[in-house]
Amino acid sequence: MAKSSKNPKTKKVKDLKPPKLEKLQAPRGVHDILPDDHAYFTVIKKVVRHRARQAGFRRISTPVFEDKNLFVRSVGDASDIVEKELYSFSTKKDKDAVAHELALKPEGTAGIVRSYIQHGMSSLPQPVELYYIEPHFRHDRPQKGRYRQFYQFGFEVIGEPDPGIDAQIIQLAYLIHEDLKIADKLTLQINTIGCPECREKYIEHLKDYYIGKERSLCENCVRRLDTNTLRLLDCKSEDCRILAEMAPKFSNEICDGCKDHHKKVLELLDTVGIEYEQNDSLVRGLDYYTRTVFEFWDKSEGAQNSVGGGGRYDELVEQLGGVATSACGYADGIERIISHMKDADLVAPDKDQIDIFVAQLGFEAKKVSLKLLTELRAEGVHAMGALGKASMKAQLGKADK
Ligand code: HAM
Repeated sequence: MAKSSKNPKTKKVKDLKPPKLEKLQAPRGVHDILPDDHAYFTVIKKVVRHRARQAGFRRISTPVFEDKNLFVRSVGDASDIVEKELYSFSTKKDKDAVAHELALKPEGTAGIVRSYIQHGMSSLPQPVELYYIEPHFRHDRPQKGRYRQFYQFGFEVIGEPDPGIDAQIIQLAYLIHEDLKIADKLTLQINTIGCPECREKYIEHLKDYYIGKERSLCENCVRRLDTNTLRLLDCKSEDCRILAEMAPKFSNEICDGCKDHHKKVLELLDTVGIEYEQNDSLVRGLDYYTRTVFEFWDKSEGAQNSVGGGGRYDELVEQLGGVATSACGYADGIERIISHMKDADLVAPDKDQIDIFVAQLGFEAKKVSLKLLTELRAEGVHAMGALGKASMKAQLGKADK
């Protein structure tokens, strides 16, 4: 029997509230690029494209995901980026019942070298000079300037061992920072980590030095002692830093070829008037580097939130299955550049500026204004109209905004 609506326990239909839906948010560590920030992106992309074209670079885009092994073999399985930060997943089984391990790209160099080999770019006039503006993904601990999806622009020169290339790449980065008016906020840190031969000897000496000192090292460094010994030199923990300062210096063990290469890079930077700091503990967090490594640091924050970094990677093409080919490259983080531009009160010009606002009242006027808007836009005029049912006052208010 139906209950009487007079029963005080029975709620009226209008009193029944729908269950509260959970508010959806972007996943932790990723962010929307809202229109105001796009104005900065637009300026940065324009500067990068201009400088890249001026120097003969051509644009490349590689897939957002690749075979996971590509990153294991290039960036290195003992690196933080692969060990802790890779977004990897298995595909469904293919027709041969095999599932593939894929990963979202954490950086651009590995994919570009894969593409260089896959598309036979070694038969093109060398070096091949490429640039990119792409999203990348790292399961990093989110904080200021550290995201799980972030954008980089970068440059790779593949097929030339000369130190002139290293200097030119650094100069390109410097010019872009100058165009974006942030060059004076940054310092260029530079070092050499040598070739596999002299570095191997040095690493043995480093291991000998650290034996017996494990108790003074942080957990991370104890783990890295065997797998990634060089990274002990740039650990930020207090005790590790003290030990690193007293560790044997690579400059005492570097081979003549690597020493000469580094000296020439520095001389070339002097020639073009780019200031640098020789930083013996700069080693970078990716395994593929040889000889030159460099980073652009914030003058006030140091290694935290470095704006960009790069170096030479003479072994990588061969490691990934190509013929031995020298290469050098560099990448900047776009979000970090935007943050520097904002801190310096630099306002990106707003290309979305509207020249004409067309207001209308009534259906006949709407027809005329739609036609007028079409003609204005065809002439290249930025025109906007309120085609809804708003009053003239509301439309004028919108035009004002
Ligand atoms: P990287 O130092 O790992 O180098 O990254 C370059 C830049 O990307 C950093 O300096 C930083 O500005 C930005 N970046 C890195 N991780 C994040 C993050 N989680 N959130 C926001 N920005 C970030 C490379 O990626 C090498 N592939 C550079 C290179 C090119 N070496 C040779 N060629």
